[in-house]
Amino acid sequence: MLVILVLMAAASFAGAIALPLLYPLPSAAHIHLALAAGIMPLIFGAMTHFVPVLTRSAAAPKGVRLIPLLASSAGTLAFFSFAASNRIYYFAAFFALALAMAFAMWIMRRANKAVGKPHPCLNWYLGAIACLILAFVAVLAMTLWPEQRIALKRLHLHLNTLGFIGLTAIATLQVLLPTAVGRPDPQAAARLRQDMKWALGGALLISIGAAWFKPLAWTGAVLWAIPLVHLCKAWFTLYFREIRQLHGAASSLAAALTGFFAAIFFGALHTGGILNTANTAHAFIFAFLFPLVTGAVSQLLPIWARPGPQTPWHTLARQHLGKGGGYRALLFLAGGLLLGLGWREGMLLSIAALAAFLLQLATTARPAPVT
Ligand code: HEM
Repeated sequence: MLVILVLMAAASFAGAIALPLLYPLPSAAHIHLALAAGIMPLIFGAMTHFVPVLTRSAAAPKGVRLIPLLASSAGTLAFFSFAASNRIYYFAAFFALALAMAFAMWIMRRANKAVGKPHPCLNWYLGAIACLILAFVAVLAMTLWPEQRIALKRLHLHLNTLGFIGLTAIATLQVLLPTAVGRPDPQAAARLRQDMKWALGGALLISIGAAWFKPLAWTGAVLWAIPLVHLCKAWFTLYFREIRQLHGAASSLAAALTGFFAAIFFGALHTGGILNTANTAHAFIFAFLFPLVTGAVSQLLPIWARPGPQTPWHTLARQHLGKGGGYRALLFLAGGLLLGLGWREGMLLSIAALAAFLLQLATTARPAPVT
């Protein structure tokens, strides 16, 4: 199922890039095709993998494993609703809200039953889902409070991007990079425990500030930067050699951290009226999301495709997907930053890196050894 979610996310990103070139669609349509139909279900899917690992419990039951697929149908419904300019997205928001609440309840139950203290990454996941729930409440509030629609849209989009996606990504990176490198980060759990308040507080302040009071958003950006600085310092000390390598997942995951930092900074410039919305959104997607998803998929896809004991196939598949990971990371970062600064041709760098990765993905079943 997780492999299907990866392929669906790849297809929705390809669709989100190609469709606007073929038909003039409102920007909300292709944004939701990529983020609500592609990324949201993939995040739910990745959590169904990580929550049992973090709580040392059994695999997620069938009903929970269905939630990512149902979330994908809610996201797809939102896409069609924006493409057709009707209001069915209210139903999609209500459906997605119910799914997010059921998913949060499952995480809480697993955390309560965990043997020993549950890993602090779980609290970040709960914080992320809480942001998603509030984001859907913001959409539903648009019917009751139509004169506040623009403010509620800003609230919804920041809660989703810097809250739901940001919290999940920064927590998962702290578990994933040490696994990819094969050396533990002894401070990761303590850092996650201490930094959660800054990340969640930052995401909430940015979202409320962007909607109603800009100075709050700048304060939130400073708060969100605290855990990012802590993480950069730790990775620089522990994993600098692996991050510099031109193959493997480590460079992509480090690029994702840099890209998220850039996204927060560009977001602050956007709030100040210096950058426009499209440039800021492009920087978020190309400099942060693409290295994040490609790096995480290179590390996790082999285990998702063939769960169970690790075999030489898993090592080869990981090497195959990670081949050129450093070049891709640089292209994604450069493309995203240039797009963020308004240079549209930067998109070509990101498309080249994405095409290379999709080719690697398509040939992963029989990976050739790295020479
Ligand atoms: C079923 C799920 C969702 C529904 C029903 C929904 C609904 C909406 C609505 C009604 C708007 C305002 C559109 C407008 O006034 O132009 C909006 C904007 C937005 N949403 Fe969602 N949303 C969903 C999921 C998501 C997710 C998961 C993300 C990101 C992770 C997201 C990111 C955004 C962004 C970035 C915008 C601004 C789009 C623009 O400015 O054109 N949404 N959404």
